[in-house]
Amino acid sequence: MNFIGTKIINLNRIVLTKFYCYDYLDFNEYASIEEVTRYLTWYKHASIEESKEILNNKFSKYDSSTFRWAIRYKENNKLIGSIDVVRLDKNSESVEIGYVLNPKYQNKGIMKEALKGVSNYLFNQVLINKIYIRCIKENIASYKVMKACGYITIPYFKSENIKGKEVLMIYTYLDRFTYNYLLDERYKK
Ligand SMILES: CC(C)(COP(=O)(O)OP(=O)(O)OC[C@H]1O[C@@H](n2cnc3c(N)ncnc32)[C@H](O)[C@@H]1OP(=O)(O)O)[C@@H](O)C(=O)NCCC(=O)NCCS
Repeated sequence: MNFIGTKIINLNRIVLTKFYCYDYLDFNEYASIEEVTRYLTWYKHASIEESKEILNNKFSKYDSSTFRWAIRYKENNKLIGSIDVVRLDKNSESVEIGYVLNPKYQNKGIMKEALKGVSNYLFNQVLINKIYIRCIKENIASYKVMKACGYITIPYFKSENIKGKEVLMIYTYLDRFTYNYLLDERYKK
């Protein structure tokens, strides 16, 4: 595994970069919406100050094992979401990814573009063996993103406690072999 941290990933409509302290207004724009955090493990931000604090103390801090990208829309250079490694297991060289997008930019295929770019980076530059993604069973949009990116569904719903509620989770995964040998060039573009 190569601990090369978060490098720029340049894609078609978006560019994935690090988060910076000055991103707080765009960050707050989506992180403060109840609907956006409905299926997430974290609660909506209560104020701009909270978004600022999270950016300053966590999101803008990087080391070689931090893989956290800000998704920026090229057309207006706006921060519109994030995609990041939320769990890293060095022994099995596997990771779990999470993602979120500003609702104004949803349903345009943007997260599929981001997930393909990040999967490629993690498999072929970081040399990760396996990527997992999980979502609450009702989160159809998220599940569709995983499926469209070639992720394989584990046929078992795991019950987990998310924000104090028992929910059923769907797990999907993709491994380096499948990515490099079974998915074709159209996927990798
Ligand atoms: C999940 C999320 C990242 C998807 O991003 P996106 O860029 O809008 O996704 P895409 O446009 O690439 O694809 C979404 C697909 O779900 C579909 N979809 C969207 N909302 C849906 C809904 N409520 N029910 C069923 N399908 C839905 C879209 O039509 C699209 O379908 P398609 O593949 O047939 O075109 C975005 O909805 C989001 O940020 N949600 C809130 C945070 C979240 O839930 N994160 C994931 C946690 S696991």
